[in-house]
Amino acid sequence: MNLVFLGPPGAGKGTIASQAKKHYGIPHISTGDLFRNHIKGETDLGKQVKAILAGGDLVPDSITIAMVKERLAEDDAKNGFILDGFPRTIAQAEALKMMVQLDAVVNFELGREQVIKRLSGRRMCKSTGRIYHLTYDPPKREGIDDETGEALIQRDDDKPEAIEHRLDVYLEQTEPLISFYKREGLLVDVDASPSPNNVMAQMVSVLKG
Ligand code: AP5
Repeated sequence: MNLVFLGPPGAGKGTIASQAKKHYGIPHISTGDLFRNHIKGETDLGKQVKAILAGGDLVPDSITIAMVKERLAEDDAKNGFILDGFPRTIAQAEALKMMVQLDAVVNFELGREQVIKRLSGRRMCKSTGRIYHLTYDPPKREGIDDETGEALIQRDDDKPEAIEHRLDVYLEQTEPLISFYKREGLLVDVDASPSPNNVMAQMVSVLKG
C-alpha cells in the first residue's frame, strides 16, 4: 500500500504512522525525521536546513524532492510506504506523481486550537524519536524517556512563535493539496481529534484493511 499522510502540524501523523507501519508492514518515511537526522548527524544537508526547520519554514522543493526520491528507491519501500509530511507543496505533489502511483492520501483533520495544544505539549526522545505529550501521553517519569532513560526534549519548532508560523505555512502552501488529491480521487478524510486508537481504527476502516 502506497500511502501519503496529509494534515496540519501536530495532527498526529507521526503517532498514527508508528501504529500503521506495523499494521500494514510498510516503512514510515517522515521527511521531518529525515531532515532532523541530517541535522543530528551534522551533514552538509543538515547544516543547510537547520535554521529553516527551527523557524518553521519549508525546505526548498528541489532539496526535498531529491531526498524523497532517493529514500523511495531503497529496498524496503518497494512493497509500499507511508509518506508522512511529503508532499507539502503542489510542486512536490507533481514530482511524486512522476515517481510512484499512490493508493490513498489520508487527510488528518484537526482544528487550530487543538493543534496548538498538541504541539506545545509535545516532547520527544532525541535518540529514538519516540513522541510523548505532557498531558495526553506522558512518560512514566516526568521528563524522562521510558526506554532509554534519556532526558526528553522540546523541538525548536514547537516553541509558540514557530507553531503559529508553521500553521500559516500549512494553510498557504500545503492545504491546497486537499483539493489537488480530491481531484485525483485519492483523498480520504479522517477525524484526528479522538484518541490515537480511535483515529487508527477510522483509518483502517476507510482504507478497508
Ligand atoms: P514535520 O516533522 O513533518 O512536522 P509537521 O508536519 O509539522 O508534523 P509534526 O511532526 O509536527 O506533527 P504530527 O502530525 O506528526 O503529530 P504527532 O504525531 O507528533 O516537519 C518539520 C519541518 O521539516 C517542517 O516545518 C519543514 O521545515 C521541514 N519539512 C518536512 N517535510 C517537508 C517537506 N515536504 N517540504 C519542505 N519542508 C519539509 O503528534 C503531536 C502531539 O500530539 C504529540 O505530542 C502526540 O503525543 C500528541 N497526539 C497525537 N495524536 C493524538 C491524539 N489522537 N490525541 C491526543 N494527543 C495526540
